[in-house]
Amino acid sequence: MRIVRSLPTLKRVVGKWRARRDIIALVPTMGALHAGHLALVRLAQRRADRVVVSIFVNPAQFAANEDLATYPRTWTADLAALANVHGDLVWAPPIATMYPEGFATRVVPEGAALAGLEDAFRPHFFAGVATVVAKLLIQCEPDIAVFGEKDYQQLIVVRRLARDLGLRTSIVGAPTVREPDGLALSSRNRYLSANERVVAPTLYRALSQCATEIARGKSLANVLANGRTAIKAAGFDLDYLEARDSLTLAPLGETGARSIRLLVAARIGKTRLIDNVGVKLAR
Ligand code: PAJ
Repeated sequence: MRIVRSLPTLKRVVGKWRARRDIIALVPTMGALHAGHLALVRLAQRRADRVVVSIFVNPAQFAANEDLATYPRTWTADLAALANVHGDLVWAPPIATMYPEGFATRVVPEGAALAGLEDAFRPHFFAGVATVVAKLLIQCEPDIAVFGEKDYQQLIVVRRLARDLGLRTSIVGAPTVREPDGLALSSRNRYLSANERVVAPTLYRALSQCATEIARGKSLANVLANGRTAIKAAGFDLDYLEARDSLTLAPLGETGARSIRLLVAARIGKTRLIDNVGVKLAR
């Protein structure tokens, strides 16, 4: 597995693959890899001949009060995990390659990036993500790029970004990988204390219960109110629990959406967790 840290080298290797008509996939990450990330790599391998995994902890998507300084960095273990799944190339750009001195151009997404979900609590976040993802897509020129449904709003924003900028890349969403008790894998789960870890799966249980009840035709407002109560009763500070149109993240209108996504964010101790599930509506 090749580790590349300079843009000219990346361009040379990817150019060689392209000349051979290889299909190229990109899996963007911030490292601290877990089984969720590796599932994205495997999905990419099924869809492409070559898989680039980028590892870059992107300062632009962290606010000053967030965990940039303490965000887990597990470079050696990450490389071992990627070698184990036979990744082709790790793109690990230095900060100065992504943000050269004098950097003054940001991609600021609108639409789903202003849905009133993550954006309401992390106003910096989507411009930081969109800027770095646009750069990664331009640098690697992949045919596909794989993003997890775990960060559902991010997936929708990136899909729009690729279309709006006319990039060649198709954005592929991958299902959320969970612990046996339902907790979505996340690099931030390691911040949880033993007690918090016991409580953490409540989020997924509440989401699943809400999804079942909505599918059975119960009133959306009641179901969400009960879900919010259950999450708070478990010991979380709730940022939001919302039901949205799964394609646009717009609030559900009178006529209802064809497809509904439930999204949640909540804090326990010093850890903020997010999760989401689809609602299987009867046709
Ligand atoms: P990071 O949090 O490292 O996640 C990298 C990718 O892994 C994202 O697409 C995310 O949705 C996916 N992922 C995380 N946990 C997952 C799980 N349990 N199951 C399936 N997929 C999961 O998301 C980012 O990094 C950054 O914002 C990035 C897109 C790299 C831009 O900096």
